Amino acid sequence: MEIKKVGVVGCGLMGSGIAQTAAVAGYETVVREITADLLDKGLSSIEKSLAKLVEKGTMSGEDRQAALRRLSGTVRLEDLGDCDIVIEAVSENIEVKNQTFRELDVACKPETIFASNTSSLSITQLMAATHRPERFLGLHFFNPVPLMKLVEVVRTIVTDRDVYETALQFGLSVGKTPVRARDTGGFIVNRLLIPYLLDAIRAFEEGIGSIADVDTAMKLGCGYPMGPFTLNDFIGLDTTYYIATIMFDEFKEKRFAPPPLLKRLVLAGHYGKKTGKGFYDWSDPKNPKPAL
Ligand code: 3HC
Repeated sequence: MEIKKVGVVGCGLMGSGIAQTAAVAGYETVVREITADLLDKGLSSIEKSLAKLVEKGTMSGEDRQAALRRLSGTVRLEDLGDCDIVIEAVSENIEVKNQTFRELDVACKPETIFASNTSSLSITQLMAATHRPERFLGLHFFNPVPLMKLVEVVRTIVTDRDVYETALQFGLSVGKTPVRARDTGGFIVNRLLIPYLLDAIRAFEEGIGSIADVDTAMKLGCGYPMGPFTLNDFIGLDTTYYIATIMFDEFKEKRFAPPPLLKRLVLAGHYGKKTGKGFYDWSDPKNPKPAL
């Protein structure tokens, strides 16, 4: 199976990163958003991201132009009909995703491989909305997609072996290191990362250390690029809360249960960097101050 044309559904944070990555890797890429406004916003974030890479000297001006030529945007799902693979990155909501896949199933040629970038929902449950279960899998990219080297390639019990190998090759071809994962809550990374992020909050709730000290400890003590509270603020506390809730529902284990403080921050609308406040106050993004 050869992949020549890539479709991406959703041009938000993850979708725009995936579309950018595919176009940079040489694929003809078409990305779909539901409104022209959202599409413009997504495409301009890709242009900014590429411009930043050129500025940093990690990409040439010609490569940037070539990537932009390979990339197109649409508001019509039908325009993804002849794609060889379609990667879904719409909002993390089972109804929205299933509806998207039902429509894609009609719009796309029978050979098109479907992949979801979900971080927490069951690939099997999403697959069941289509008539191509054997051509369905998970491709879980990490934020920020253009910089993060990993993609989890997630198979269900019915994913076709050749389809799975094609997806692993595709991951490599877009410059990522693919790892093989089975369809269980959180796959590999979030299975380990979410309990760690929640434990940091519990440690803070119990007074073990301040937000700044826990972050410094994990950064310098373990060599992590950022501490758990900073990472939580980057991921979005609403997202961590949502993933934890789904994982708790799947495993019924305490380590996945969202701590009360996380729930309260989410209820208060303090989602982290994107809303300006979470565990840190991001009024000055280059110099965040602990907010609790
Ligand atoms: N999310 C969003 N943006 C991030 C980010 C993250 N997790 N981490 C870093 N960035 C942004 C920075 O804000 C910065 O943006 P700016 O240029 O506009 O200021 C840009 O990426 C570059 O960051 P650095 O200055 O740190 O540049 P480096 O090249 O030294 O490092 C990096 C880049 C490799 C991305 C490093 O910052 C890093 O490792 N960050 C942690 C990323 C991480 O852990 N991501 C996984 C999140 S978990 C996930 O996605 C799973 C999901 O299901 C929850």
